[in-house]
Amino acid sequence: MANIGVIGTGYVGLTTAVCFAELGHKVIGFDIDVSKIEVLSSGKSTIYEEGMSELIVKNLANNNLTFKGNIEAITNCEFIFLCVPTPQDADGSADLSYVIKASKDLSPLLKKDAVLITKSTVPVNAWKDVVKALDRSDVAVVSNPEFLREGSAIVDFFNPDRIVVGCTSSQKAKQVSDLYKQPDIQTIITDNSSAELIKYASNSFLAIKLSYVNEIAALCESVGANAKDVLFGMGQDSRIGSRFLEPGPGWGGSCFPKDVRALRVTAEDNAINMSLLSAALDSNEKTHRRIVDKVEKELGNSLIGKTICIWGLAFKANTDDYRESPSIAVIERLIGRGASVVAFDPVITNVDNKKIKIAKSIEESCKSADAILVLTEWEQFKSVNPDSVKDLVKNKVVIDSRNILDKKQWTKSGFNFIGNGWQ
Ligand code: UGA
Repeated sequence: MANIGVIGTGYVGLTTAVCFAELGHKVIGFDIDVSKIEVLSSGKSTIYEEGMSELIVKNLANNNLTFKGNIEAITNCEFIFLCVPTPQDADGSADLSYVIKASKDLSPLLKKDAVLITKSTVPVNAWKDVVKALDRSDVAVVSNPEFLREGSAIVDFFNPDRIVVGCTSSQKAKQVSDLYKQPDIQTIITDNSSAELIKYASNSFLAIKLSYVNEIAALCESVGANAKDVLFGMGQDSRIGSRFLEPGPGWGGSCFPKDVRALRVTAEDNAINMSLLSAALDSNEKTHRRIVDKVEKELGNSLIGKTICIWGLAFKANTDDYRESPSIAVIERLIGRGASVVAFDPVITNVDNKKIKIAKSIEESCKSADAILVLTEWEQFKSVNPDSVKDLVKNKVVIDSRNILDKKQWTKSGFNFIGNGWQ
């Protein structure tokens, strides 16, 4: 059992704090936002994440977990995880100011021989800035990137594909990997810079893969092939892998777009032309456009005055996050071409763009719609009976950008069904 401090209780920090507590460690979660601390201390989760509230309640009760709004609370911790944001700067690079500030604030507080672990996604060699800001020769700085997916963060924490730990001291790196109590999981012990780059290289690779998947889907549509079969066939090659092969309205979220842009800046700063990164970003925008084109084509080549019913605002299912959501990007293009939009999402009931009308139910979203457009793969949409909405819509057109609906069932109810990458 170790005493662990977690700085920042966002998606990554909260999951880290709660899961380490669940493993039996004594964990203090710190955040400058005291209103968050109050909510968490009362046993409620501040994020929408499967199983989170239950684990918070359990570990507050057994005293493995506490939340504090004063950073001095972590003075007795041996291991401190930095989980503060690294937002995108104006030039696309990652803004390290929160990481540096936290390191400076922690410097006079950390106990002798403590270990400071960077879990925030930071560009390669940021660890050197942390060492400098910390200015403590007795404190080891360890780079331990996270690979948690929103919506399944807890499952991912306990069942990782790998644990990556980078440090100049392999002994300190081992101490950090031992905290996870996962002797059977592949652990990669490396230097700090490599650990930091594994994170960016992985996220960017997945984004490039998805851009390629979406381009294959577009090609399938043009040549009359079936993207479902093509992508399944590709995925059976173990060198390609069957996961992350689902076409959609584009990839988004708080990580992929930001990380691809930040890696591109790092490459440019080092005079390396990583043209695939730019290509993946451009391709993603083309995918947004392609989805809008499909809707427009089905509605007589004009969206002016048309009402589009949108199913899903979140950047993927099982999260309430719509940061850089492809849904929002597609919706804004629809509105830009003269359509109005009524959206329903099972958990998002409010968005910044007030031109997006939000419906309270699936039925309400369908009223007088010229087309239904599925943008997020929520389970709830899969089970909609088309007969229950066919009399609500103005026009029986459904465009399923996530390929989650049953074409036969929708066609039987009289809908013109358009999938993504297949006829
Ligand atoms: C991503 C990575 O998957 C995590 O490993 C990483 O830890 C995390 O970023 C992060 O850097 O913190 P996340 O942003 O939660 O996780 O979302 P993903 O599940 O990776 O999905 C990203 C986007 O790709 C979503 O818009 C999703 O709908 C899309 N996607 C994913 C597809 O369009 N098709 C697929 O087959 C898979």
